[in-house]
Amino acid sequence: MNDVFTKHIMFDKEHWALCLLDQRKLPELEEYLTVTSVEEAIYAIQQMVVRGAPAIGVSAGFAAVLAARQACQQTQSDADRRESLHSLLERLACARPTAVNLTWAVQRMKTLLAANPNTSACHIPELFLEEALRMQAEDVRICQSIGHHGGALLHDGDCVLTHCNAGGLATAGYGTALGVIRGAIDQGKKISVIADETRPLLQGARLTCWELARDAIPVTLACDNACASLMQKGLVQAVVVGADRIAANGDTANKIGTFGCALLAQHFAIPFYVAAPLSTIDLTLTNGSQIPIEERPAEEVTRIFGKAAAPAGIAAYNYAFDVTSASLITAIITEVGVLRPPFTSSIAWAHTVSAKV
Ligand code: MRU
Repeated sequence: MNDVFTKHIMFDKEHWALCLLDQRKLPELEEYLTVTSVEEAIYAIQQMVVRGAPAIGVSAGFAAVLAARQACQQTQSDADRRESLHSLLERLACARPTAVNLTWAVQRMKTLLAANPNTSACHIPELFLEEALRMQAEDVRICQSIGHHGGALLHDGDCVLTHCNAGGLATAGYGTALGVIRGAIDQGKKISVIADETRPLLQGARLTCWELARDAIPVTLACDNACASLMQKGLVQAVVVGADRIAANGDTANKIGTFGCALLAQHFAIPFYVAAPLSTIDLTLTNGSQIPIEERPAEEVTRIFGKAAAPAGIAAYNYAFDVTSASLITAIITEVGVLRPPFTSSIAWAHTVSAKV
């Protein structure tokens, strides 16, 4: 695994700063953005300097450290500092709506705060930093485990189609969907990848191709609208995608266009796998219609690389995610194993297993 996939989210304790590989600039430039306040961290998440559900969660953990530091720098009572930390965490949790890993990470910090009622507010940054580093290390292990379970589902010689970027860049390292591909390769299989370009922000072309090429994993780029034809030609043996939020029944929100891939996979009887950590499953939602779908600025669609891609003033839909219904999903690959339909019971089982670990 290339080094950069665990160095794209780094915390510099000496300067109390979060250093993020700026994913907006890849593949052209490998530049880091340094973030020193929770407001800057929210901006970085919203502008997609860091993106991908688990990577957003891990970054939010570090952003909570910055929030705790800001709160403790205020000359107030400890109770006031805790209060202002709470409101900063609330704002952080709302940076983007769809990926549940963001609220999951913030909730984990809030739980830690509540469990330490007598800790001075000025010791909370240290406490949060330990937890954020734990979350980061856990995420890499979880992705490797997803890779191990999912890798077993792929066959030697398979070509896997993936949509968006659910790789090392979208996690703390190794990746979920790309983790499955890495897992299969680690198991000695020859695997190649078709990366959908993933308009409007081209995470497939810019990020998936970039990280797979760096790992010397064979990858071919395709326009999003080539999916049906590539499947018809017999070029795709499996589809593996990540997830931003999975409802308790298995309905899955992921990058816009995923639903279309799933429908096509069903038409051509190609297995369609979702790879995600259990932290992406939102047990409070019974089905996918309850998942909040982010709408992003129309300019992301009407402009490309700073240039007009449509006449001025044209309206554009820019839903960032869609929901694939559970009935189209062959299996959900998690760190505790491969979940099969009916997902309501397999997801519930997975949570009991993880509670025991
Ligand atoms: O808008 P993005 O780039 O944050 O969307 C990312 C995705 O849709 C990923 O597939 C998902 O977060 C899973 S990342 C392991």
